[in-house]
Amino acid sequence: MWRGVRAVLGIAVAATLASTVAAPPSASAAAGKAAAVNCKKVKCIALTFDDGPSPYTGALLDTLRSNKVKVTFFVVGRQVEKRPSVVRRMVREGHEVGNHTWDHTRLTDALDGEIVSELSSTQEAVHEAAGIRPKLMRPPFGATDQRVRAAVQTAGLPLVLWTGSTRDWELRNTKAITRKALSLVRPNGVILMHDIVPETVKAMPGILSELRKRDYHVVTVSSVLGDRKLEAGEQYPS
Ligand code: NI
Repeated sequence: MWRGVRAVLGIAVAATLASTVAAPPSASAAAGKAAAVNCKKVKCIALTFDDGPSPYTGALLDTLRSNKVKVTFFVVGRQVEKRPSVVRRMVREGHEVGNHTWDHTRLTDALDGEIVSELSSTQEAVHEAAGIRPKLMRPPFGATDQRVRAAVQTAGLPLVLWTGSTRDWELRNTKAITRKALSLVRPNGVILMHDIVPETVKAMPGILSELRKRDYHVVTVSSVLGDRKLEAGEQYPS
């Protein structure tokens, strides 16, 4: 019975939304609550920033806020411990925070128990800093294998890699990073960048402005996934 009522209400809400589709962004979106973007219907791109929080992350958050976009940060536990307020701000402003291990360990070289503790200590550091526990992890260097995936499954997290890497840590040049990032963009792509690279942070206003021209919505990894629920130990993109 309740399911039926909810379905009818759902249709009414959908009809209301359809009639106000040209409305400006809502107050709740401006306040940092993730606006619902349907990535099956509009062009989405997930920008992801690894290895922070760093001294440059605050400037990046300023740029993201003024452009009203949400991204995913894969944070390193020992950096979270150094800069908890930055992680708190990420969450408060509607960004997604994923787990990138405690000290950026190459997990294919770590023992099973080490993998689990690298992940659980980072889960706790993020929880202590920002009151949430990450729902995604990214293995440092993208280094995974069947054994690592099994250990990550024990820790209860799915693995998120990328569809395109800017190699920004190697380029170290704002123009080159901009060009590379834009060349990697495709609908529902996941782009790897680093908020420990100052040139990346400097490149962001230009990248976001060009993405807007191309009608892209910059979103979190979870927004790209939409209804799809990743299992613990599952790797995306596979
Ligand atoms: Ni990394």
